[in-house]
Amino acid sequence: MLIGRKAEQAAVTRLVAGARVGRSGVLVLAGEAGIGKSALLEDAAAQAEGMQVLRAAGSESERNVPFAGLLQLLRPVLGLLDKIPGPQAEALGVGLALREGTTTDRFAVGAATLSLVSRCAEDRPLLLLIDDAHALDRPSAEAVVFVARRLMADRVALVLTTREHAGSPVFEADLPQLHLGGLELTAASRLLARHAQQPVTADLVARVHAATEGNPLAIVEFAGEIERLDRVGPHTPLPVPQGAVRSFTRRIAALSPPAQGALLLAAISDGDLGVIARAADDLKTDETYLAEAENAGLVAVTAGRIAFRHSLVPSSAYAAAPEALRRRAHAAVADALPPGDDERRAWHRAESIIGFDDEVAGTLHAVGRRAQDRSAYDVAATAYERGALLTEDNEERSRRFLLAGESAWLAGQLDRAQSLLAESAQLTTDERMLAEVDGVRGGIALRAGSLEDARTLLSGAASTMSGTDPDTAVVLLADLMLAHFYLADTAGAVRLAARVEDVVPRANSTVAQVRGELVVGVAHVLAGEPGINRIRSAVRRISDSPEQARDPRHPDWDVLGTLFLRESSTGRDLMERTLQELRERGALATLPTVLFYAARDDATTDRWADGVARYQEAIAMSRETGDTTALVLCLAGLSWLHARIGNSEDCTASADEAMRIGAERHVHLGRIWAMFARGELALALGDAAAAVERFEGLAAELVSIGVGDVDVSPGPELAEALVRVGRTEEGGAVARAYAEQAHAKGQPWALARAERALAMTSDGDDEAAAHFDTALTHHASTLDAYEAARTRLAYGAALRRRRQRVAARPHLRAALETFDRLGAEPWARTAAGELDATGETPQRRGAGRTAVLTAQELQIARLLAGGKTTRETAAAMFLSPKTVEYHLRHAYTKLGIHSRSELATALGD
Ligand SMILES: Nc1ncnc2c1ncn2[C@@H]1O[C@H](COP(=O)(O)OP(=O)(O)OP(=O)(O)O)[C@@H](O)[C@H]1O
Ligand SMILES: [Mg+2]
Repeated sequence: MLIGRKAEQAAVTRLVAGARVGRSGVLVLAGEAGIGKSALLEDAAAQAEGMQVLRAAGSESERNVPFAGLLQLLRPVLGLLDKIPGPQAEALGVGLALREGTTTDRFAVGAATLSLVSRCAEDRPLLLLIDDAHALDRPSAEAVVFVARRLMADRVALVLTTREHAGSPVFEADLPQLHLGGLELTAASRLLARHAQQPVTADLVARVHAATEGNPLAIVEFAGEIERLDRVGPHTPLPVPQGAVRSFTRRIAALSPPAQGALLLAAISDGDLGVIARAADDLKTDETYLAEAENAGLVAVTAGRIAFRHSLVPSSAYAAAPEALRRRAHAAVADALPPGDDERRAWHRAESIIGFDDEVAGTLHAVGRRAQDRSAYDVAATAYERGALLTEDNEERSRRFLLAGESAWLAGQLDRAQSLLAESAQLTTDERMLAEVDGVRGGIALRAGSLEDARTLLSGAASTMSGTDPDTAVVLLADLMLAHFYLADTAGAVRLAARVEDVVPRANSTVAQVRGELVVGVAHVLAGEPGINRIRSAVRRISDSPEQARDPRHPDWDVLGTLFLRESSTGRDLMERTLQELRERGALATLPTVLFYAARDDATTDRWADGVARYQEAIAMSRETGDTTALVLCLAGLSWLHARIGNSEDCTASADEAMRIGAERHVHLGRIWAMFARGELALALGDAAAAVERFEGLAAELVSIGVGDVDVSPGPELAEALVRVGRTEEGGAVARAYAEQAHAKGQPWALARAERALAMTSDGDDEAAAHFDTALTHHASTLDAYEAARTRLAYGAALRRRRQRVAARPHLRAALETFDRLGAEPWARTAAGELDATGETPQRRGAGRTAVLTAQELQIARLLAGGKTTRETAAAMFLSPKTVEYHLRHAYTKLGIHSRSELATALGD
C-alpha cells in the first residue's frame, strides 16, 4: 500500500481512466534513486483491471543489447506482428532480431512499434509500464519516445519511470513529466512506523525525515537501525547522511571477502546463478556465500536467479570492488557464459582487458556491424568504439573509430560523433582515411552544422578521393553541391560543376554517372545557364531504371532534378513515389529534406495548402532528428508562404527562427528567403515603407555575402515598394539594374518579373503597357501562377488609374481568381478593391475549402482521397489509425461532408 503520494496517484488514475475511453496518455515519473518511482508504477499496475499490461525495465547489463528493452515490452504481443503493414513488421522483426535482414532507418522501429501498440489496443485497452527507463538500451528508449510523442486517440496509457540523468532520452524528451520529491513528514512517519520493529519517537521521526529529505528508501533503511539511531545524541547529525547508497555500501563492506566476490559476480552476471556458480572458482568463492548477502538483506535467492533488494545493490557492489577485482570478475563471467552467448562474452572480455586484444576487438567489430544492420546505431557506436580501444594497430584502430563516429552520427549523437571522428583522424596519416573522416564530418556539417564547414570538409575530401576513387568522389561532390545551393553560392556551384565534369567520366557506377549529370545540370541552372537537358536526361534515367540509378542513402538526389526541372510531365511521379517509399521505410532522417523539396514545389505552383502542410511536417520532424539545415529551409519556405497568405504572426515567427538558426549555421538560402518573406509581408499588408526597408536590407545582405543570382534578388519587389512610397525614380533605377541581370540570365521567370518592374516604374503609358505585355508572355512559359497574378494586378491597376476600366477588368478578374485559388488573402483583397473601383462587383470565390483544415488534417484527407486505407495513411503519417480517424472526423465537420467518397470532391482533387 502506498503511503502519501495522493496527487501523483491521482495523475496516474486519470491517465489510466483516459486510456479506457480512447484518450491516450503518457506520464514520466522522474526522481532520484529510492524516491518511490517503482512503488508508484506498481500502484498503476494495480489499477489495470481488464486492461492488457505490457511491462519492461531498463537494466544496466542490457544497455548494449540492441532493443533488449523493446523486446521485453512487446514479447507478449508479437503474435500481432503480421497485422501491421509489411515494411514495418519487417523493420521491427529485424530490429528485435526475430528475422534476418537489415534495416537502415533509425526511426523505422519506432514507427512499427507505434503500429503494433495501437493494433494491440484495438482488442483491449493497453497499459504500458516501463521502469528505470534511464537504463534502457538507447535504441529502445528512442523507439519508446517516438511512440509516446504520437499517442493521441488510442486506448493506451504509458507510464515510465526514470532517474533524472542528463542524456537519458526519456528524461530529456518533451513528454509530460512528474517530478517526485521526498515524502511529507506525516507520510514519512507512517512509513517509518510500518518498517520499524519498535516505536519511534516524534523527535527521531523528524530527524530521520530531515536527514533523508523524505526519500522512502532511505527511510526504510533507517527503520532497521532505530536502536542505533536512538543512541545518537540530539545535536549530532544522523550518521548516514547519504541514506540508501551508504547503507548498502556499509553492509556490503561488512561481508566476508568470498561473499563480496560472489555478490560482485551476481552484479556482473545480472544475477544468473548458473554463471555465478561456474565463475566462482576464479574469484576464490562459491555461490553458497550468497547466503551471507541474503542475511544482510541485500539479495534474495530464488529459482536459478539472484534478485537484488534494490537496483542500488548491484551498482554499490560494483562500485565498492577494486578495479583489478572487477576485471577478474568480468573475465570469469566471460568464461562462464554459455557457448552461444558470444556478444555478451565480448562485452565482458572488453571490460576485463588492460591494453590490446585483437580477437576481442574483432568480435566487438562484428557486434557493431550486426547492431548497425538492425539500425541500433547507438549500440553499434559503442561496440566499434570499445573494439577500437582494444586494437593495437593504429590504422585499424582509426578505422574502427571512424565506424564508431559514423554510427554515432546515424544515432543522432552529434558531439559523440565528432569526438570519435577526431580520435580517428588523430591516429592516421593515411590520406584516404583522413578523407573518409572528413567526408563523414562534412556530411554531418551539411545536415546539422555549419554549411561553411561542410563546404571546406567536403571539398577537401572530394579532392583526395577523385584520384583513386572517382565513384566516392562524385558522391562527395554532390553533397558539396548541396552545400553551395544552401549557401546560395552560385559562382561556387559553377566552379564545382567543372570539377564534377572532370571526375564523372572515370566513375563506374550508374549512380555516380546519374548523380554527376544532375550536379552539373543543377549548377548551371542555378547560374542561369543551360543545364535543363542534362537534368532531364538524368531524371529519365532514374525513372526508367530505378534499381541502378537510385540511391536509398541519398533520396534527396532522386527528387532534386524534378524540382529544378519544374515541368509537369517529367519526374512528377518520382517525387511522390520517393516520399511514399521513405514513409514506408520510416526514414525520418532523410524525410525532412525530401519533404522540403516537395513543399517547395507545392509553394511555387498552386498547391499552397499542401506546401504549408508539408513544411510543417518537415519542421516537426527535423526538430526531432536534429537536421538544422532542413529546419531552416522549411521555416523560411513556410514564412514565405505565410507572408503571401497574410498570416503575419506565423510569418514573423518562422522567419525570425529561420534567420537566427540560419545565421548560426550559414544556411544563407534560408536566411535570404526569410528576409524576403518579411519584406513581402509588409508589401502584402500595404506597409510600403517597411517593405522598402526590408528589401533594401536584403539587397545589401546579398551583396555582402556575394550572392549575385537574380532569382533570389528582391529587385522587382523593391521597385514596387519604392513607387508606392513615391520614390519612383529610385524604383526605376532598381528595376533597370534588375532587368540587366535578368537578361544576362535569360530565363523567363526573372524576365517576367523584370518586365513587370520596368512597367511599374515607367512614365509613359504605352511604354508601361508594352512592358506588361512582354511580362505576360514570359509568365506564360513558367508555372508560377502567383507571379503572373501579381503582374495582372499591377497591369489592371495601372489601366484603371488611366480610366481604362473595361480593359482593366479582365486582368483584375484573372488576378483575383488566382489569388483566391491560392489563398493569397491580402492580394485577393487588393485585387477585389481594384475591380470594385472599375465599377464591377468582385466575385470572391472565397478561400479554398481546404484552407480551413489544419496541416495534418489536409495531409490525411489527401492520402485517403487518393485511395489509401486508414491503416496505410496512418503508416505514412507515423500516426495510429485511431488518430487518423480522429483527424478525419474533424476534417469531415469542417468540410461539411459525411463520407470518404465525398472527400476528393471536397478537396478539389
Ligand atoms: N509512497 C510509498 N509508500 C510506501 N512505501 C514506499 C513509497 N514510496 C517508496 N516506498 C518504498 O521505498 C522503497 C524505495 O522505493 P522505490 O523502489 O519505488 O524507489 P525508486 O524510485 O523506484 O528507486 P530506483 O530509482 O532506485 O529504482 C521501496 O521499498 C518502496 O516500497
Ligand atoms: Mg525503481
